[in-house]
Amino acid sequence: MSRTPIALILLAAGQGSRMNSDRPKVLHEIGAGPLAVHALRAATALEPDKTVVVTGHGAEQVEKSLSKHYDDLEFTRQTEQNGTAHAVDQARAALSGFEGDALVLYGDTPFVSAETLESMAEAREDADVVVLGFNAKDAGRYGRLITNGPSLERIVEAKDATPEELAVTLCNSGVIMCRAQTMFELIADVTNDNASEEYYLTDIIGLARARGLSAAAVTCDEAETLGINTRHELAAAESAFQARKRAEALEDGVSLEHPDSTFFAFDTVVGRDAVVGPNVVFGPDVTVESGAHIKAFSHLEGCHVARDAVVGPFARLRPGAELQEGAKVGNFVEIKNATLAEGAKVNHLSYVGDAHIGERANIGAGTITCNYDGVFKHRTTIGADAFIGSNTLLIAPVDVGAEAMTGSGTVVTEDVPDGDLALSRVRQTNKIGFARKLMQILRAKKMKKDA
Ligand code: UD1
Ligand code: CA
Repeated sequence: MSRTPIALILLAAGQGSRMNSDRPKVLHEIGAGPLAVHALRAATALEPDKTVVVTGHGAEQVEKSLSKHYDDLEFTRQTEQNGTAHAVDQARAALSGFEGDALVLYGDTPFVSAETLESMAEAREDADVVVLGFNAKDAGRYGRLITNGPSLERIVEAKDATPEELAVTLCNSGVIMCRAQTMFELIADVTNDNASEEYYLTDIIGLARARGLSAAAVTCDEAETLGINTRHELAAAESAFQARKRAEALEDGVSLEHPDSTFFAFDTVVGRDAVVGPNVVFGPDVTVESGAHIKAFSHLEGCHVARDAVVGPFARLRPGAELQEGAKVGNFVEIKNATLAEGAKVNHLSYVGDAHIGERANIGAGTITCNYDGVFKHRTTIGADAFIGSNTLLIAPVDVGAEAMTGSGTVVTEDVPDGDLALSRVRQTNKIGFARKLMQILRAKKMKKDA
């Protein structure tokens, strides 16, 4: 069976004035990912052929941010927010000639699941228009789905509803799916003759029925349709998201030593039998493989931790950190844009940036790669089985060869060939009895002063 092409239309024009923020609402984050990215992620399961994002408030910021996450988005701007039908209508030109379905999603509604969207696509086999509904605990100001048996007849906004209609608890999530060209034809007939003087997307159901098209509702759990309007709702959504990610990780065979203090990002991947200690924070773009151990109080982002590697406690892995099998990063160590090859160790108090550390190399306590000259970044490479003494400064660009050594406290400014020892410190001399003598002089001085 050939599948119907799908275009996503993501509404992201609203201001979100109740967030009390300079940041556009859809860019506020849950699990270190913008709300709008959450909304789009679930829909990737449908393998959309096109995605049109309708921006308005903070359009430039929204476009820039979302383009970092997806490279195939089309943007269209809604300069005045005249209602949801008007917003969808902004995608008309972008979808002209598109023969397939349009699925309308909302940038401030992050939790609609892939399974729910798949069941909407399935329901489209039997109905011309499919709406996602839910049974509301408190129907409040949601639009009400007015049904007749299995047929959805129309949607009435709370503001325009009669008391009988207000008693209906089956509510509109806003998510709608139908043939794209049908959607635009129906929208052309929508008027703003209602309590809000807005063009309601919800009106297309009644218009579709009047044309003899069929409509149906698919329902999901109310939690999926949660929209974010305030910082309180954002904070509650973050908690709900973390609870779900923790449960998923445990299901997937990850050991969380203290689940309540593990913080995941929207895209964190942790393999089976990995162990995560208390108070670990995952920023975006982290993969931790099977059997790795992330110890307490570590912060990871943009990094890859291979099998059996050990990180922390109190370690920081920044973007571009690549720990190969069995590598070790210990306490108070920061790794940025650097590879630790198999079995390499950086165990204490170090900064390793813009570097390659060879297999089994050991980086002594307090070692620093001096990678930045104030303008440019430079690379450091350390060969396999090298031994870097404690408190070595590696002034990049610099290469230390395989099986080479540096003495403690060495400032490495020149390459060190394979197997050589680099020493740059001043030779030690001991002045016989000098320490005692000096103390006597100083104490005598103090007595004279105090007298
Ligand atoms: C809408 C639905 C309502 C449903 C509710 C679910 C309509 C008319 N009503 O109401 O039935 O129960 O969502 O939350 O569709 N937007 C734009 N441009 C606009 C208007 C809205 O981009 O011109 C965006 C908003 O930023 C928001 C979304 O569309 O993300 C929904 O708009 P909103 O005004 O919040 O609609 P509701 O009144 O909540
Ligand atoms: Ca809303």
